[in-house]
Amino acid sequence: MANAASGPIVLVGAGNMGGAMLSGWLKSGVRGADVLVVDPGPPPAMAKLIADNGVTYAAQAPSGVQAGVIFLAVKPQVMDAVLPPLKPLVGADTVIVSVAAGKTLAFIETHLAAAATVRAMPNTPAMIGRGVTGAFANARVSEAQRSQVHDLLKVSGPVEWVRTEAEIDAVTAVSGSGPAYVFYLVECMAEAGRKAGLEADLAMRLARETVAGAGELLHQSPDEAARLRQNVTSPGGTTAAALSVLMADDGMQPLFDKAIAAARKRAEELAG
Ligand SMILES: NC(=O)c1ccc[n+]([C@@H]2O[C@H](COP(=O)([O-])OP(=O)(O)OC[C@H]3O[C@@H](n4cnc5c(N)ncnc54)[C@H](OP(=O)(O)O)[C@@H]3O)[C@@H](O)[C@H]2O)c1
Repeated sequence: MANAASGPIVLVGAGNMGGAMLSGWLKSGVRGADVLVVDPGPPPAMAKLIADNGVTYAAQAPSGVQAGVIFLAVKPQVMDAVLPPLKPLVGADTVIVSVAAGKTLAFIETHLAAAATVRAMPNTPAMIGRGVTGAFANARVSEAQRSQVHDLLKVSGPVEWVRTEAEIDAVTAVSGSGPAYVFYLVECMAEAGRKAGLEADLAMRLARETVAGAGELLHQSPDEAARLRQNVTSPGGTTAAALSVLMADDGMQPLFDKAIAAARKRAEELAG
């Protein structure tokens, strides 16, 4: 696991995402004393985690500290205000990691410093250590720093490095926003089940557990999604009947093409 040889890991923002990362770091062996949390008002559960694990805490960016890693986990709209006071913490060996949606490397560089910087896009299952993160490193990031950042990010699930910063917008569209598509799938299945004659609560329980179970099977099985789908589908059976609708020319694929394109376009717009 990442060590603090070049300075502490400075976590800026200990909310949902920052808190999930901190919790994962501590579980994976990062010492509390090697982490400095900067947040004017961490949620009570985070304040307890900080106190219980000897994590250094500051309401504002402290002076006299050179960070090994600065991990930015604040809302994008406060980044303008958050970055300038952090500038003194950036040294020659510091690597900056930002999970702020839509905030480009150029934006971070303008407001903070021309430093080794990684843009990362996790997703909400990170809260239970089952997320997936897309990441892009600028040319200043050394192999050692990349490996250190990989270790820090992987506590919330697998990390996929992309080749260009622009790909982060597509990552955002697929996996960053993706959990919402799956939750909506549950809603749609439940509503269709209700229309097919089931009690609404029962339809929701069936839909929810079906998606959760299928997700877990996908997670545990070495088989491709297409193979798992084929395993459920007997020729001429009920699944085949449903899939003939979902896989029609006007079925789910064109709908997903449009949805992902809309999310990607919005990510580009937000990045300015
Ligand atoms: N949640 C996700 O699924 C997800 C996925 C991918 C990326 N992200 C990114 O992760 C970032 C954080 O999102 P989140 O959902 O974790 O937000 P959040 O729960 O609101 O956490 C942000 C934390 O930063 C604190 N904060 C506010 N101003 C600060 C300052 N000046 N200095 C230090 N800390 C400050 C907030 O305190 P207050 O509450 O007191 O303002 C809060 O504790 C966002 O940029 C988002 O784009 C989130």
